Amino acid sequence: MNRTILAANWKMYLNEDTSIDFIKKMSSDIESFSNSEVILFPSHTCISQVQKELKNLNDIKIGMQDCDIHTKGAYTGGVSLHGLSHIDFCIVGHSERRLLYNESDEVVKNKLETVISNGVNAILCVGETKEQKNDGNTFTVIDAQLSILPKDAISRLTIAYEPVWSIGSGEVPSNKYIEDVLSYIKNKLKSLYSDEIVEKINLLYGGSVDKDNINRLLEVKLIDGFLIGSASADFESFKAIADKLN
Ligand code: PGA
Repeated sequence: MNRTILAANWKMYLNEDTSIDFIKKMSSDIESFSNSEVILFPSHTCISQVQKELKNLNDIKIGMQDCDIHTKGAYTGGVSLHGLSHIDFCIVGHSERRLLYNESDEVVKNKLETVISNGVNAILCVGETKEQKNDGNTFTVIDAQLSILPKDAISRLTIAYEPVWSIGSGEVPSNKYIEDVLSYIKNKLKSLYSDEIVEKINLLYGGSVDKDNINRLLEVKLIDGFLIGSASADFESFKAIADKLN
């Protein structure tokens, strides 16, 4: 059986000291994570230190929460995928980037291309706002967000379904709701790619995941793992989630 992916989106919750403290605790309790495939997404400014601190914990993957479309040049403030020694994953199109930083589907598309063409695994986030849900537009929104996918073969892609109304709100959709959206995503992928490719695309759920709801969410068969925000930035609550998988 595949291990459950636990992607920890630390957003801007931790600084260098608190990130290192987290890794120290994790290193001394690593058996708690034996049934999880952990991917940590520290703040960009903390990634190098986290990588150093992880030392021989080769099993823990590291990712960027976002990246620039460009990898080199005169782009003040841009963060390049090439700026760090080794990055396994990069999140693309998180709703906070789309809504707070006005990233359009076109920008998300360019970022996705940059990530994949540079040999890094992409986690593409999709999800509807409360208003879009209430207007019955969930599938239309997801469809538009997925329309940026290349029409030919694709590799190194993971899709995270994160309803915007669930992020940080404590409000989690029912399993049936998540299942319907993930099935929709899966069918869309099947219309684009071969079964062999679709098989390799992992599907994550994100939005208010914690130790109290992880077990019922795991009953959704299409879920390969979780993209976790606030509950991943506190070691004890992240460990409590991982412990539920053991
Ligand atoms: P949350 O965030 O777990 O704090 O709701 C999830 C995310 O934004 O990826």
